[in-house]
Amino acid sequence: MKIGVIGGGQLGRMLSLAGTPLGMDFAFLDPAPDACAQALGEHIRADYSDQDHLRQLADEVDLVTFEFESVPAETVAFLSQFVPVYPSASALRIARDRWFEKSMFKELGIPTPAFADIQSQADLDAAAASIGLPAVLKTRTLGYDGKGQKVLRKAEDVAGAFAELGSVPCILEGFVPFTGEVSLVAVRARDGETRFYPLVHNTHENGILRLSVASSAHPLQALAEDYVGRVLDKLDYVGVLAFEFFEVDGGLKANEIAPRVHNSGHWTIEGSECSQFENHLRAVAGLPLGSTAKVGESAMLNFIGEVPPVDQVLAIADCHLHHYGKAFKAGRKVGHATLRSKDLATLKARIGEVEALIGKG
Ligand SMILES: Nc1ncnc2c1ncn2[C@@H]1O[C@H](COP(=O)(O)OP(=O)(O)OP(=O)(O)O)[C@@H](O)[C@H]1O
Ligand SMILES: [Mg+2]
Repeated sequence: MKIGVIGGGQLGRMLSLAGTPLGMDFAFLDPAPDACAQALGEHIRADYSDQDHLRQLADEVDLVTFEFESVPAETVAFLSQFVPVYPSASALRIARDRWFEKSMFKELGIPTPAFADIQSQADLDAAAASIGLPAVLKTRTLGYDGKGQKVLRKAEDVAGAFAELGSVPCILEGFVPFTGEVSLVAVRARDGETRFYPLVHNTHENGILRLSVASSAHPLQALAEDYVGRVLDKLDYVGVLAFEFFEVDGGLKANEIAPRVHNSGHWTIEGSECSQFENHLRAVAGLPLGSTAKVGESAMLNFIGEVPPVDQVLAIADCHLHHYGKAFKAGRKVGHATLRSKDLATLKARIGEVEALIGKG
């Protein structure tokens, strides 16, 4: 079976690493000459709107999936004429737009921060008055790693903020005084069977995910599964989806969904019985889902800007390195390590050992 992937970054690369043992081949459509997934499959170097190359991809593969959600809607619609596409065009349309996704959460009774659609500075002035400050202004589409957003703390921050984000459609959200951030990675098969990984606790640094720690028997697991299940069923979703939540007042508020394999699920490669990458491929290919159970304790630490010296990372016990083969650049995710252990105290010590190597690349 040959899988077409829109996007050829590290997520595509890890999909191929998971699918190759299942007998799958891969083709990645990505305009970047140095797309790092090309080491693991065919690289069709073309723009996402290039219909000749999209047609070539559709002709070559059995199905198409995505490694990022900011794919133009027309691209998905075009491909869907020729080849099965998972997740569907309608699921992507909602998940790529913060206004659509938050409106869906509200409709499904999932708590969210207060939010408003912003099409102009006048909309922003009115929404800042009704929602109150602090608040976060975010572009509706294309944001990632904290890009395309601004925290508004005082009245002066509101003035001109719409233009600062490029005068594009935005949403304003109330600032959530969260006690923690968690995410739930789930997989739903073509027949609707759904499985959930354990909740993961996430820590961000400068808006970028730094550390994910998989939990055991988290008290909010059942609530998170309830919320995520509602979204998966509503979208008739096929594949892996990640849902990011704020932990607040002992409950959860929805932040956003990602209709794809997710950075906070990378630990599943070594830390669970069947990784998010393999389960995504099993789901889209119509194969039986694998177990999402955790094996021991695990955590994932991102390498941002540079990968520390490989020999030193690998000298740490039960530490697994993923080097994406990308050029090092400040603020760019270029690799990660998964740490495992039998108990949390040892895990914490191992995280500390890897953290001590950061900045020594
Ligand atoms: N309403 C909010 N209240 C408080 N903090 C927020 C709010 N929205 C976002 N943040 C903080 O900013 C981070 C990034 O926001 P968000 O997840 O919306 O953007 P993103 O660019 O899609 O991020 P990523 O690509 O890392 O998932 C959040 O993980 C959280 O730490
Ligand atoms: Mg996020």
